[in-house]
Amino acid sequence: MKWVVCSAWPYINSVPHLGTLVGSLLSADVFARFLRLMGEDVLLVSGSDEHGTPIEVEALRQRVDPKSFTDKAHSYVVKLLERWDMLYDNYTRTESEVHKRFVRDFMLRVMKNGYIFSKNIVMPYCEKDKMFLPDRFVEGVCPYCGYEGARGDQCDKCGTLLDPIDLIDPHCVFCGSRPSFVSTKHWFFDLPKLEESVKQWLKSSESLDPNVKTYSLSMLEKGLKARSVTRDNKWGIPAPFPGASGKTIYVWFEALLGYLSATLEYFIHKYGEEKGFEEFKRYWKDPETRTVYFIGKDNIPFHAIILPAMLIASGEGYVLPYKISATEYLMFEGKKFSKSRGVGVWIDEALEIAEPDYWRFALMRLRPEERDVNFTWREFYRIVNTELNDDIGNFVHRVLSFVYSRFNARVPPIKELQDEDQEFLNNVRKEFERYKSYMYDTRLKAATEAILSIARAGNAYLNRREPWRLIKQNRDEAGSVMALLINVVKGLAVMMAPFTPRASAKLWNMMNLGREIPRGAMKKAFEIEILEGHTIKKPEPLFRKLPSDFLKKVDRMLKDIRMRVDKSRPRYLRMTRS
Ligand code: MF3
Ligand code: ZN
Repeated sequence: MKWVVCSAWPYINSVPHLGTLVGSLLSADVFARFLRLMGEDVLLVSGSDEHGTPIEVEALRQRVDPKSFTDKAHSYVVKLLERWDMLYDNYTRTESEVHKRFVRDFMLRVMKNGYIFSKNIVMPYCEKDKMFLPDRFVEGVCPYCGYEGARGDQCDKCGTLLDPIDLIDPHCVFCGSRPSFVSTKHWFFDLPKLEESVKQWLKSSESLDPNVKTYSLSMLEKGLKARSVTRDNKWGIPAPFPGASGKTIYVWFEALLGYLSATLEYFIHKYGEEKGFEEFKRYWKDPETRTVYFIGKDNIPFHAIILPAMLIASGEGYVLPYKISATEYLMFEGKKFSKSRGVGVWIDEALEIAEPDYWRFALMRLRPEERDVNFTWREFYRIVNTELNDDIGNFVHRVLSFVYSRFNARVPPIKELQDEDQEFLNNVRKEFERYKSYMYDTRLKAATEAILSIARAGNAYLNRREPWRLIKQNRDEAGSVMALLINVVKGLAVMMAPFTPRASAKLWNMMNLGREIPRGAMKKAFEIEILEGHTIKKPEPLFRKLPSDFLKKVDRMLKDIRMRVDKSRPRYLRMTRS
């Protein structure tokens, strides 16, 4: 089975914060790591979403070329993602040449197929600022739900996609004045023509989540409108249509194609132009390939309607989304993450507080799969100290150190298993099956429950079997219990690996199984593979606890960290800029 795992491309106008990471970049990495361990054929792609107005506006303000911002910002983020142990096969950018070429060719094809037309429209123009106002720079009242801060492209309250002219009481976000609407020629994607095909696909898909399906079908019920694919911006990919010089492609319509172009670029780098293109097609044109998208819920319409419509319109036979894993919002101590108000934790700051494994695990424990979830330092503290340290870390350590000290580091033979031993193993394997089906279903948080329940069951089993007592009466039986447990710890290491890759590798190494957990190891995670006589290394604690005064100190700590880290960011990404 071939898989292309896709994370939404974060805008490069700020450092990603924990809320950006949780649903897209990190989830996709965890999922792809799981698939690799299952021995699947998987590609993980994403990149920086560089175009769009905020960057152009900031560049205008500072009188520099936008590209000089995004070059530095992109490489800063790439390095950060490495520090978070993200294993992207290609983490690229929308300024990449392969992407720009792909977008031009794709759009021309869509036009040739009759899905793009041009017409004159009136666009919001600010007389005072002397510019056409990009969608996001017009705000007003949403005509559907009455929300007052709706933007020209979308209402954040009800999620409806909008055009600036739909807004009631529109105003320019720069100066607050009411824009005039001036006529200019633009190119449109004929969504109404594709409505029926998209509906058919949505209805017939058996793999899409019900929430994504219901939401999108209800949007289709309201009827789709043609959406303009060009903008009067300078910063962006030049629109390739005849007569469109000076216009660029609307950022959403090109960024979405990044999933394809990033795959293409990956293979071109690997095999060169010709073979690279063939390989790309082998993935994206095989109806069996599973493409899985990790996004925040506000991105659902783009991935469940616009992207499939574009793919259909290209007539290339590209595979439509297999799954769209959309998360709800992560809140920070009861508030929305906000760069301007400094609410939240940014992913460079986070690493100054705890190692990536701790964050990765905690964020997946808090993954907002069913409703909005509130991140609190108290929860973070509890997850690290109780779950990672007490439940998982302790269990592992109890097992390894007992074998190390009482059996001279050599795994004893399994001579006699009692019913209750077999029962324990069966329960572990049942939890493991549950874990795998949650993982395939992208319910990553639910999967972490299974990890914890195995660790807890392991601790309880140890307490029941008391090998430290048993060994005095029946060394063989105690040995069997420990050999069984060693194998359970091995399985646990594999299950944890997508979430805590460092700790898992360390554990693998302590068990003397090699430096890295091999691809495919998940398939046999709970088979008895560590046999009599295998020696383990001296065990060390897997995790460390956060200090008991952590909660008292963390706010102060974060303030200091923020000052320091902000200075090390490229100027354009700083939160304090003059
Ligand atoms: N940059 C967008 C956001 O942060 C997501 C773009 S996803 C892609 O909301 F599909 F367009 F790449
Ligand atoms: Zn204005």
